[in-house]
Amino acid sequence: MPEKKNLLLGVSGGIAAYKVCEIASYFTKKGVNVNVVMTEHAAEFVAPLTFEALTKNHVYTSLFDGKGNDPVAHVNLGRTADAVLIAPATANIIAKLANGIADDMVSTTVLAASCKKIIAPAMFTGMLENPATQRNLEQLRKDGWEIIESESGRLACGAVGSGRLAEIPELISAVEEALFANEQLLGKRVLITAGATRESLDPVRFITNRSSGKMGYALAKIAKTMGAEVTLISGKTEIRPPHGVSTVFVESAEDMYNAVTERAACADIIVMSAAVADYTPAEYSDQKIKKSEGDNTLVLKRTKDILSSIGRTKPSGQVVVGFSMETENLLENSRKKLLIKNADMIVANSIASENTGFGVDTNAAVLITKTGEHETGLMSKEELAEVILKKAAELL
Ligand code: CTP
Repeated sequence: MPEKKNLLLGVSGGIAAYKVCEIASYFTKKGVNVNVVMTEHAAEFVAPLTFEALTKNHVYTSLFDGKGNDPVAHVNLGRTADAVLIAPATANIIAKLANGIADDMVSTTVLAASCKKIIAPAMFTGMLENPATQRNLEQLRKDGWEIIESESGRLACGAVGSGRLAEIPELISAVEEALFANEQLLGKRVLITAGATRESLDPVRFITNRSSGKMGYALAKIAKTMGAEVTLISGKTEIRPPHGVSTVFVESAEDMYNAVTERAACADIIVMSAAVADYTPAEYSDQKIKKSEGDNTLVLKRTKDILSSIGRTKPSGQVVVGFSMETENLLENSRKKLLIKNADMIVANSIASENTGFGVDTNAAVLITKTGEHETGLMSKEELAEVILKKAAELL
């Protein structure tokens, strides 16, 4: 993470207050200075001490609590915030913020903040759908707030409906974007492929590989935080697409080829991190293939190489980045791929170590370009994504 940022986390009185402890913890661990302000009702659900222990900062629940060492904390916390997140946001705090009412620590501090503001409503469906709440949310939208819509699910009252706090990873992504958006890819369009393709044999079976999609999703998330407009073409994965990224799900190598070629001309940078099948069954059976006595042989035919096809044409002079996954002769094979596929960069990664490659959160790579090679060392996939995208931005 580039520099120490300040996150102002406003917590109001809802059962979901306990969930945002994870957000305070996540950003503190990332080196962000997290200041938590709570309404008195929020403090009934989660003790301020919990947030203090997680953030190592005093938690204010009142304008006059006398315990913090700043008599005008509401002004200083508001003024210095790089991003504000209000979660969970009750109908009451939404109404206050929409109308500029400043009668408690949360509403007063937020009024003093001029940074990007994000709010995540959470309440009983009827309260959320009430015209007053909808009017207030609309007002916040007009005032420039980003609203992270609540989800449908089981609510604290036992009813099932909309009003459940959005998923924590979604809130974290939105805050990360607000805190770390840097200008390097501002106005640029980045197309990323991720995950594994599936080649169907029959309605029951398919051939795939071990790619989890984590590297591609990290690239999409970081490209977004660097200001890009991101399209992610993804095979099926177990992970949620990053917030604010336009995601297209595909199944086979052919689907991925079509999805990429349709969109390639509009992209400034194309990063192909997907593990695309090189072969697909020569024939697809509409009915389940039944077993018979003796062995069977599967006939496979070659798929189109998406990276080669894009690399050859580069429809409008894009920077094209490919990945190379090898178990042996990593550099030699990867250098060949740079030339054969006419890529501008190949990210060569070995699956020889247990900390790199499929499924894990870390990776190490050698970035190979036409002018040189750079070995990154072991780092998180998000950190590696940043290194790759910065290099791609330079090439652009
Ligand atoms: N790739 C692609 N289309 C394919 C196969 C691969 O676009 N049909 C891309 C991958 O997304 C990756 C790069 O090509 O960016 C290299 O993939 P890799 O599997 O390492 O190499 P292959 O070209 O498939 O060659 P081999 O399997 O022989 O190593």
